[in-house]
Amino acid sequence: MAARNDPLKSSEDEAYTSTKILPGDFTQPRAASRPIGNYDKIDRNNKDVSVLKDTPDKWVSGEAYEQFMGRWSRRLAKEFVDWLNPHSSWNWLEVGCGTGALTQAICLNADPAAVAACDPSAQFVAFARRSFNHPAATFLVAGAGELPRHEAGFDAAVSGLVLNFIPAPAEAVQAMSSRLRPGGMLAACVWDYAEGMQFLRIFWETAVEMDSEAAELDERRRFPICQPEALVELLECAGLERVDSQALEIATVFPDFDSFWAPFLGGTGSAPTYVGSLHPTAREKLRLRLKQRLVPDGDGPIQLTARAWAVRGFHL
Ligand SMILES: C[S@@+](CC[C@H](N)C(=O)[O-])C[C@H]1O[C@@H](n2cnc3c(N)ncnc32)[C@H](O)[C@@H]1O
Repeated sequence: MAARNDPLKSSEDEAYTSTKILPGDFTQPRAASRPIGNYDKIDRNNKDVSVLKDTPDKWVSGEAYEQFMGRWSRRLAKEFVDWLNPHSSWNWLEVGCGTGALTQAICLNADPAAVAACDPSAQFVAFARRSFNHPAATFLVAGAGELPRHEAGFDAAVSGLVLNFIPAPAEAVQAMSSRLRPGGMLAACVWDYAEGMQFLRIFWETAVEMDSEAAELDERRRFPICQPEALVELLECAGLERVDSQALEIATVFPDFDSFWAPFLGGTGSAPTYVGSLHPTAREKLRLRLKQRLVPDGDGPIQLTARAWAVRGFHL
C-alpha cells in the first residue's frame, strides 16, 4: 500500500517487484537500507531558486531527460563500454541507470550474462523497462544505498554520469566496491562540466552573464569531483587498485537553434530546472542571448563536443 501512495512509484513497479524473476544470480536486500544522498527531498513543484540551490536535480520525466541528456549519454555510454574492454558473460551491477543508456550499451556491446541496472527514480526505471527489453537486463528501483548483491560478487560495478549527483560519492563507491568479486572492476564516468561539456558551458556562461545567482547552480562549481585527479583519488581512497582515467569525447550536433533550446524547457536536469524557475520574460531574454551567441548569422547547425572523464579500478 505504501508504494501505491508514493508518487515516485508506479503500479508497473509494484507488478514488477511481485512477479518478475530476476535473471543472473543476485539477490536484492531484504529491506531498503539508508539511501545515500538527498534524493527523497526533491519537491517537483517548487520553482523557487532558493530551493533549487538545494535540490536542482530532478529525475522525474524519462522523456524530458532523453531529449535533454539521454540522447548524448547513449553515445557516451558506447565509448565508455569500449574503453572498459570487458569480457563476455560478465555479471554487471549498474548504479544510477536512469533511462537505460549505459545498460543498453553494455547489453549490445559487452555480451553480458546479466545486468542489474538500478536507479532510485521509479519514473526513470519505468521508462527504461518500456524502452529496452533485453534478456540480460533487469531494471530495479534502488539507490546507491540499497544495491543488490550477487552471490559470487559482481564482475563489474559501473555508473554513467551519476557520481557527481550523489552527495556522498565516497560512500557510493564503497557500496559498489563491496558488491564486487575479488578482481572485479569498478568504473564510472562523469561529464567534464568545468570545460569539455560545451553546450552546458555555453548555457551557464550566458546565464551567469545575465543573472549572477545562476553561478550557484552551474555544474562547474557544484561538481568539483568531475576532474580526473578527483575521480582517481575517490577510487584509490576506497581501496581500489590499478586505478586509471581517460577522457572520452562525443560530438553534439544540433541541426538548428530550436533543437538546442527546446530540451532546456523540459524541467529534468540542472539547467532545465533553472530555466523553469525563470520568469517568462527572463527566460526569453536568455533564449535570445544564447541564439545570438550560437547562431549570430540567423540559424543553422550548431556543432559542439562533449567531454567526459572516465575512471576505473579493481577490487583486490
Ligand atoms: C544524469 S542521470 C544519468 C542516467 C544514466 N546513467 C545516463 O547515463 O543517462 C543521473 C542519475 O543518477 C540517479 N541518482 C541520483 N541519486 C542517486 C543515488 N543516490 N543513487 C543512485 N542513483 C542516483 C538519478 O535518478 C539519475 O537517473
